[in-house]
Amino acid sequence: MPRRILVIHGPNLNLLGRREPEVYGRVTLAEIDDRLRTAAEALGAQLDTYQSNIEGELVDRIQACMDDGTDGIVINPAAYTHTSVAVRDALSACGIPAVEVHLSNPEAREEFRHVSLIADVVAGRVAGFGAASYELGLHGLWNILEEGS
Ligand code: DQA
Repeated sequence: MPRRILVIHGPNLNLLGRREPEVYGRVTLAEIDDRLRTAAEALGAQLDTYQSNIEGELVDRIQACMDDGTDGIVINPAAYTHTSVAVRDALSACGIPAVEVHLSNPEAREEFRHVSLIADVVAGRVAGFGAASYELGLHGLWNILEEGS
């Protein structure tokens, strides 16, 4: 059975490509998901993707991982990185290895972005490499899963 990886995108990431391109680049979310699918295929993994602007829906999707066979999560919680105890608690509760990714480098931006409420419940973090952060995060997660097996 191939490993199952879930990629979760938080609020406003559906606007990638036309949202502050000087910060987030011009790559769309669909293009990011396509690149990840190609990378996952090369690894022999099955990739699912999910985006929501709604905090509770993100929590529901993370909880669903406990029963749907997901082996690992790549997550960009976007603004909820800095505010959501609920997303943090869901990641912690599900107990599935997760990697936090960001297109920009939040720690080089406004002070309110310097705090990540999920930093200490994820296995690793990648930030500041644009769309490539996701691919780097996927490969990092893959290494963690392979090492654990
Ligand atoms: C982001 C950084 C967050 O601070 C911001 O709220 C986002 C995107 C990133 O990928 O760089 O929406 O997570």
